[in-house]
Amino acid sequence: MSTTSSHTIFLSLFLLMLLCSSSAADQTQRNVSLGSTLTAKLNQNESWLSPAGEYAFGFQQIQKDGFLLAIWFNKIPQKTIVWSANGNNLVRQGSIVELTNLGLVLRDSTTGRDVWSADVSGTGVSHAAMTDTGNFVLANQNHVNLWESFDNPTDTLLPTQVLGQDPELAARYSESNYSTGKYYIKVDNGNLVFYVRRLTMPGQGNIIYWPENQTPGNDGTQVRFNQSGSIYLQAQNGTITEQLTPSNSDFSKGFYQRGILEYDGVFRHYIYPKDNDDNGSNSRAWPSGEWSPTSFIPDNICLSIRADKGPGACGYNSYCKLEDGRPSCHCLSGYTFIDSKDEMKGCKPNFEAQNCDEDSEDVNNFTMISMDNTNWPQGDYEVFTSMSEDDCRNACLFDCFCALAIYGDSCWKKRSPFSNGVMDSSIKSTKTLLKVRKENSTTTKSCNNIVSKTKDQTTLIVTGAVIVGISVFLHILLFFFRLHRKASVVRSNQTITKTNLQNFTFAELEKATNGLKEQIGSGAFGVVFKGCVELGNNNTLAVAVKKLDSNMLREGEQEFQAEVMSIGHTNHKNLVKLIGFCNEGHHRLLVYEYMSNGSLASLLFGHSKLKWHQRMQIAVGTARGLFYLHEECNTQIIHCDIKPQNILLDDLYTARICDFGLAKILKTDQTRTTTGIRGTKGYVAPEWFRNLAVTAKVDVYSYGILLLELICCRKNVEENVEDDAQMILADWACDCYESGEVRCLVENDDEALEEMKMVEKYVMVALWCIQEDPSLRPTMKKVMLMLEGSVKVSAPPLSNSFISSL
Ligand SMILES: *[C@@H]1O[C@H](CO)[C@@H](O)[C@H](O)[C@H]1NC(C)=O
Ligand SMILES: *[C@@H]1O[C@H](CO)[C@@H](O)[C@H](O)[C@H]1NC(C)=O
Ligand SMILES: *[C@@H]1O[C@H](CO)[C@@H](O)[C@H](O)[C@H]1NC(C)=O
Ligand SMILES: *[C@@H]1O[C@H](CO)[C@@H](O)[C@H](O)[C@H]1NC(C)=O
Repeated sequence: MSTTSSHTIFLSLFLLMLLCSSSAADQTQRNVSLGSTLTAKLNQNESWLSPAGEYAFGFQQIQKDGFLLAIWFNKIPQKTIVWSANGNNLVRQGSIVELTNLGLVLRDSTTGRDVWSADVSGTGVSHAAMTDTGNFVLANQNHVNLWESFDNPTDTLLPTQVLGQDPELAARYSESNYSTGKYYIKVDNGNLVFYVRRLTMPGQGNIIYWPENQTPGNDGTQVRFNQSGSIYLQAQNGTITEQLTPSNSDFSKGFYQRGILEYDGVFRHYIYPKDNDDNGSNSRAWPSGEWSPTSFIPDNICLSIRADKGPGACGYNSYCKLEDGRPSCHCLSGYTFIDSKDEMKGCKPNFEAQNCDEDSEDVNNFTMISMDNTNWPQGDYEVFTSMSEDDCRNACLFDCFCALAIYGDSCWKKRSPFSNGVMDSSIKSTKTLLKVRKENSTTTKSCNNIVSKTKDQTTLIVTGAVIVGISVFLHILLFFFRLHRKASVVRSNQTITKTNLQNFTFAELEKATNGLKEQIGSGAFGVVFKGCVELGNNNTLAVAVKKLDSNMLREGEQEFQAEVMSIGHTNHKNLVKLIGFCNEGHHRLLVYEYMSNGSLASLLFGHSKLKWHQRMQIAVGTARGLFYLHEECNTQIIHCDIKPQNILLDDLYTARICDFGLAKILKTDQTRTTTGIRGTKGYVAPEWFRNLAVTAKVDVYSYGILLLELICCRKNVEENVEDDAQMILADWACDCYESGEVRCLVENDDEALEEMKMVEKYVMVALWCIQEDPSLRPTMKKVMLMLEGSVKVSAPPLSNSFISSL
């Protein structure tokens, strides 16, 4: 009871009333004596009742085997809990609450631990009682209350209850989940303040959402709830500083009432007509047999929460709409709830984000849709003033970072995830322009939409062109890799469990490839087949299954596995992804993603089907993939065989390097001689033929040749040329550059001719890459930066010929 000295008549009357009601309750209360217990039982609510039976204290079954110690309205059929002890910690069947002279203790039956207790300082509890006001009290012999549920509220206030400055009302997590939710209210700085807290990081970044502007100088110290349904903030001296809910004298008779901060963050005053006849004429205005809200705060929580941090009233990527006075959360078109059972958790896009690569044509797969009466306050990363709606639409569409724009004479761009989304008829000046991927344009492909191609179009690995050359590498490599073999096996074994590689049986892969039927490529290493594997959830994926020729393999099952694992650890958008493998007896197979557009070799030469910009995009993509292999993998991977046959193209013509890491798996063929390489004049760096260390710079050399081929759309070695000087592309390019005639290289390519500055730059980069002295060649990182324009390209040295030095 309040011990505040009362100065006003009003307060005296009020106190008198409270005292009267409380002593009246005392007279009729049924005592709970020391040593009394209640047990949580299935389908049976054991409880201690208030004298008139209005309220009960005891166990409520919330889940199959989850019980809540609670107080509830005992005379109405709907389960209406007004207080609970262990919402965060439900107890099992058989758990017991016991009253001792130290207080009240709830003990879990399975753990034997105390889950909750109503502690009183010292001893002296003589009895407990459930009162007809809904207050459960522990008292001493002199009827002084040592503990009251009214002083330790959860989410509900009842008439006559007072909310002081210390306790807060905290909403539960959801309608039926009684653990602590994110909203709470508290008397703070003279006001009743509504807060959102970050559940994952309590105490961090709490946000006020009501009142919008705190009344300065407000000196409220407690919230009171009187019998006429009036909930108000009262100052120390008894004056009412703020009326929160209106008073209605009808409510004081014939209605149950409660004020609750609900899980949606709204504080509502509810009434429920009592069953008896004398509940007055006005009760007819309210439906019987149910709780009706009479007023609530704030008016529209969807509009109230708009802090620049946090998701807003609903989760990220969802918007809030008030329906029948309650906020409901909705996902945008193209998005779905992360957890359909918990809509407050927000939504996720059903589509892949837009590709941000320069020159990516992924933008064609996106479209902007519009929604009226919506807004997403806060969280803009770019704003344009006075812009047309169409321009705003395009500004977002062509910006891969933009997920959504708000238009209303200005254009606000938002990145994902977006927050504070709200739809309301009052919002007239803004609309949402939402970016979504067009239907059916998803880049994840299932087997059904793969068009079968003929063998010669889709060459997945070496077509035999430079087989001789390869074997020479491998011959030289043998020495090099033997040195490293031991170390790499140890390393891979340590990481063996971390990849997502699938270990297929041979039978599974036979089935996946329809009995190794559709061959899509062949080469020195073995044969490649098209197939289709299941990835669970009815997802299928088109794959290329590479069956390694057992004669080409080195011994050692473990070593094979270890190398495969290290390939499996790579993950880059410019590499072909290894999905799995088979290592069963003499069967060694590798399962890769299927690349629908085949190899660069099949598209580049002759009448190239690739435009200048596509080719340069492939050049940059390949450089990025190589840079990754050289510098960003756990262990450096030197490809040793960069050439157009080993650059594959996916649906979007993105360059994807394949066959990396294979050099370590395959055996060298020692019957070949080095004579072949002179005639081929391929992609092989000169140090292979000298006694020089082989480093990542061999890939840089091969890349330089590839880059020239991409620029000129021709093979490095072309026998049928008018002028003998043009036979070796590297030599010819060097001559052209030296004489300032780079134009000659792209003579028949109108697009390239319009971009001569770029052509020149790329030629210079290529000439740097094919320097005979490996130390003069740039790293792939520098190549990448030069191509992208972040590093200036200086003039390459020209003194020697590039091939003649063999
Ligand atoms: C309740 O218990 C107290 C203390 O033991 C006692 O004084 C009081 O008379 C009891 N009341 C009833 C109604 O039994
Ligand atoms: C209630 O929600 C919390 C937070 O999501 C969760 O951890 C807990 O398991 C839920 N409890 C019940 C009884 O569903
Ligand atoms: C409740 O408080 C309101 C003021 O907020 C007052 O008008 C009303 O008379 C009070 N009712 C009772 C039963 O005390
Ligand atoms: C997308 O695919 C479905 C089913 O395959 C088809 O009915 C629909 O017309 C397609 N939509 C577009 C835009 O191609």
